[in-house]
Amino acid sequence: MNDLESGDGAPGEGREPAGGADVLDEAGIRTALAGSRLAREVHIFERVVSTNDQALALARSGAGEGNLVVADRQTGGRGRQGRPWHSAPGLGLWLSLVLRPALEARRSTLVSLAGALGIATTLRQGWGIRAGVKWPNDVVVDGRKICGLLSEGEFSGDSIRFLVLGIGLNALHGREDFPAELAGRATSVALESGRQVRRLELLADVVRAVEAKYFYLEARGFDGIRRELLLVSPLMGKVARVVTAAGELEGTVVDLDENGALVLRLGGGHLKSIVAGEVVRVT
Ligand code: BTN
Repeated sequence: MNDLESGDGAPGEGREPAGGADVLDEAGIRTALAGSRLAREVHIFERVVSTNDQALALARSGAGEGNLVVADRQTGGRGRQGRPWHSAPGLGLWLSLVLRPALEARRSTLVSLAGALGIATTLRQGWGIRAGVKWPNDVVVDGRKICGLLSEGEFSGDSIRFLVLGIGLNALHGREDFPAELAGRATSVALESGRQVRRLELLADVVRAVEAKYFYLEARGFDGIRRELLLVSPLMGKVARVVTAAGELEGTVVDLDENGALVLRLGGGHLKSIVAGEVVRVT
């Protein structure tokens, strides 16, 4: 295992997860992911700044689809809109996949939506957690975030050169493991399932679930995924306030369009598709 950084004293450091040490060891990871098409090559780090940075560097140097980066801890994990991503050592799954989807660049959002759906589905079916997908890319349980996805990539005109899909899944956290600013807004697989979580098992479930939806998207298109997303969306039928680069909008959430944009019905009945934004209030 590699260590690309040292000595950062991140929150949660030194705490053993409830239920005893849960080791993400290299041999275990390789065995758990054997046969996975998205994890033909696995790059495992004890510590990195960000698994997305590692995966972006791999992709830029020509790595193909099927490269997975996993780290036990991140010292500079990042979320959407430049926010830091709390990556407590030993408690979560912090991973990034190199993808080369045959999709137009304007449809790249579909990849993170498909990935989020895969994760919500495996949490529901395999872990008994009532997980949903909050547009654009949060996996949530009763309003608390359990997993976030960050898609970054390089584009050439309307083609995708590559995407890196970063996944941060809170796995072993107890309530006290989240920093104060996340209290009441974050949760974990251990908290929601009540089970003793082994991250190796969870990692294999997550990668295989993302893989299933990703290849379904590639082979069959977005429509089936869209219908499943609407079924597990905590926003559907609700009034949402969305912050976009062009300002704030409020309306009733009625659909996702073929590019993964959120469709709002505004006052007056006009439908508006929002390609990028942040839902800040739901009533
Ligand atoms: C978000 O909800 O804002 C997205 C969070 C994505 C976090 C993951 S953790 C693994 C990967 N590496 C990063 O630096 N970020 C993503």
